Amino acid sequence: MCLTIPARVVGPSADGVTIEDPRGARSEARTPLVPGLEPGDWVLHINGLVIRKISPADAGEIIELLEGGPPVDTSLLDPGFRDAVEAVHRGEFGRAEIVRLLASEGLEKEALFREADTVRRACLKDFICIHGIIEFSNHCAKDCLYCGLRGEAPGVERYRMEPGEIVATAVEAVVDRGFKLLVLQSGDDPYYTDPMLVDIIRAIKGACRVFIFISAGERGRESYGALKEAGASGALFRFETSNPALFRTLHPRGKDLDARFEHLRFFKELGYYVATGSLVGLPGQGLEDIAEDLLVTRDLADMVSTGPFVPTPGTPLGGSRAAAPDLCLKVSATLRLMMKSARIPVVTAFETIVGDEARSLALKSGANSLMVNLTPGAYRNLYTIYPDRFLDGDDIFERYGLFNYKGSFEMLEERMSEELA
Ligand code: 5AD
Repeated sequence: MCLTIPARVVGPSADGVTIEDPRGARSEARTPLVPGLEPGDWVLHINGLVIRKISPADAGEIIELLEGGPPVDTSLLDPGFRDAVEAVHRGEFGRAEIVRLLASEGLEKEALFREADTVRRACLKDFICIHGIIEFSNHCAKDCLYCGLRGEAPGVERYRMEPGEIVATAVEAVVDRGFKLLVLQSGDDPYYTDPMLVDIIRAIKGACRVFIFISAGERGRESYGALKEAGASGALFRFETSNPALFRTLHPRGKDLDARFEHLRFFKELGYYVATGSLVGLPGQGLEDIAEDLLVTRDLADMVSTGPFVPTPGTPLGGSRAAAPDLCLKVSATLRLMMKSARIPVVTAFETIVGDEARSLALKSGANSLMVNLTPGAYRNLYTIYPDRFLDGDDIFERYGLFNYKGSFEMLEERMSEELA
């Protein structure tokens, strides 16, 4: 499902109405679903079709959420910064140019955000994609030092959703709420055998049309092959950090970087749509490391999954500082310049460190999609990879995502195949 920027009806046209977007661009749209529109009405539209009429106040809220500020006067910027932006645009750049963008401050930083917003609009228009995530088990065999669900963490109340409950939650999200892409996530939990996950995927796909992404850790090639065959479309799996020494420090036991890259390689071979990325702002991580992570992400990801480190009390990194929100925005803006048409979500960890403003800030700095938490209420607060997670209430996305527009599954299908091409 997706959210689009509203437009105002300016008058009739041959087979519908003429509409004008908030920046003054006019187009024509058909109106079989919403007859009787008058000049001045605000509407949501997609592919030349008006989907629904909305109130001026709600139109204003969506516009404020998605419309960036005025352009920055680039003549005021340092030539070194301008050269770095140009180099990234042309695709002729390395770590030094990325570091230059990540180090930007003040006006440069604003210019980077605006530039990313411009590229996002030019390449992806005004669509914000809304995906759902169901966290079906918080058991984890791994021992990542930063994670609140690490295998041996004491005091964590563990849960596992039974297959029938996972299927029912997913089908309800699709049929009743209009989600078209769901991530099924868990810790590395061997309780779920391949036949169990295969049955879950088959049951969901048999009941409704939806793209399923699996995020269940290191299961090996054979397992992911079976899940793909059962109907999974994507794999969400971070390499966490591409710096081998830092990776070893953060994962002293049971997780190695080669196995992460091995998974990312065979996902591609198996035909998965790959969502990957790294953690930003880890203790001991420098801008050079992050720049390298972005290069690796560009090479491996169809969709980005990069998010801030958030310290979790009770873990060995519980006393460290959280990632700086601005650094995260610079990361997504830089990724947007590097990967012009990729899906770049606002991740929940960013919403957790920033709060209510997070979505608007990130969507104006290059991000183009959202992850809505669909884990049933009984479990949500137990999936404590980091503390005080931001969770959705009823909001503008739920009200105005184009949930049940019947063309939206096909639209997503078309887009994903373009993104994979
Ligand atoms: N802060 C932010 N992200 C975390 N993850 C685990 N622990 C934390 C934390 N403290 C992320 C990891 C993992 C994903 C499921 O959650 O990147 O891949």
